[in-house]
Amino acid sequence: MQEKTLWSGGRLSSDIDIDMSALNQSLSIDKRMAQEDIRGSRAWAKAIAAAGILDETELGQIDAGLAKLADDLSAGTFPFKPEDEDIHSAVERQLTAEIGAVAGKLHTGRSRNDQVATDFRLWLKSNLEPLQTELRALQAALVERAESDFAVIFPGYTHFQQAQPIQLSHWWLSHFWTLERDRDRFYETAARLDVCPLGSGALAGTTVPIDRFALAADLGFREPAPNSLDAVSDRDFAVDFLYACALLGTHLSRMAEALILYSTAEFGFITLSDRFSTGSSLMPQKKNPDSLELVRGQAGSQYGRLTALLSTLKGLPSAYDKDLQEDKRLTFAAFDTAILTLKVMRGVIATLTVNADRCRAAVNADAYATDAADYLVRKGMPFREAHHVIGKLVKRAENAGLPLGNLTLADWRAESELFEDDIRSVFTPEAATAARGAFGGTAPERVREQIELAKKRLRQRPNE
Ligand code: ARG
Repeated sequence: MQEKTLWSGGRLSSDIDIDMSALNQSLSIDKRMAQEDIRGSRAWAKAIAAAGILDETELGQIDAGLAKLADDLSAGTFPFKPEDEDIHSAVERQLTAEIGAVAGKLHTGRSRNDQVATDFRLWLKSNLEPLQTELRALQAALVERAESDFAVIFPGYTHFQQAQPIQLSHWWLSHFWTLERDRDRFYETAARLDVCPLGSGALAGTTVPIDRFALAADLGFREPAPNSLDAVSDRDFAVDFLYACALLGTHLSRMAEALILYSTAEFGFITLSDRFSTGSSLMPQKKNPDSLELVRGQAGSQYGRLTALLSTLKGLPSAYDKDLQEDKRLTFAAFDTAILTLKVMRGVIATLTVNADRCRAAVNADAYATDAADYLVRKGMPFREAHHVIGKLVKRAENAGLPLGNLTLADWRAESELFEDDIRSVFTPEAATAARGAFGGTAPERVREQIELAKKRLRQRPNE
């Protein structure tokens, strides 16, 4: 079996092999940037008309034809054909069907190499904003939780051992700030991809004397790419994007892991909504946090996409090579995964229930050991010495099988005369959190301040 292509009947005598065609086709992936292809072509038609390649009538015919194709695409009535290799061939073929031979003038001075690079950038440019909207929505859900769970205190962990009590709001907000960096990274991606390759031709530039600055501006790009060879081979913007998605995936997976753990019978800090849980086909009692497991699991695939594109680019000869066709499959999949996982994570967070009593009761008395050391420091003892004294008291409590807070005053004073009856007052979650009052700490007034800061950030772009 053989197939007809854009170029068959010219240099190449036979049509393309059917399996080669299956490998070669990218329409199933790149039809997603059909509108961008049309936008690029309309701008290109204007640019070559200004350079004298099309007269007014021809430009009018081509532009109207392209506008019609854009409408057909939106309406879902665009007649794709099995032989359409990619979106660029499909649009060109259909434009010819609509307006006849004049359509053949559109590709003057242009190559699919600069065309695809332009379409792809245009697609990312217009889709980064919806992604940012989802990111912001998740951040807003975290801020809402920080407000509604205010005053809930639970154990903070390092090395997965209880460390110090913290406000749950402080924990929610810790994830707000990781996402804020993701938001920043996606804006940086947007800024770096704002360069227009169109007008670079196949690799060496174009013979048509077009104004590439006007063309770039017409398509909403900051500037034209300054080197035609680099312009057709550069996919760094897609790597930037995949990296930003990979790191976002990491952040979501860490959040998911903690929430899975906090929802277990052993922790019981939170209960997930049934809307984001599933049952077991065998065990009637099971309520599984699949939503969070799926969010956690996607990070691996996101890394895979980043690694795949980097591997494709490694050692690739100048300038366009067909290997580059892998770029869109990876990018679109990463985009869809990012959007979907952001939405699910937001749903999980907005609908879960916090079990405040379980949270508070889970704080072990040992988690106040630093506060007891700080007590001695306030009375003039060097911290290193205080650390040692409290360490001995922790041991003493352990030997007696008691929580640290249940030692008698005599026990305390056996290690240091500086202890007085008020040592007991440090053994409450409220006292321990209130004591961490420096900027960025878990004291309630600092967390309030942080909530306000987070809200302010949500109204602007990062680093504004
Ligand atoms: N479908 C191709 C891609 O996605 C378009 C560019 C084709 N260029 C070429 N010289 N065959 O990369």
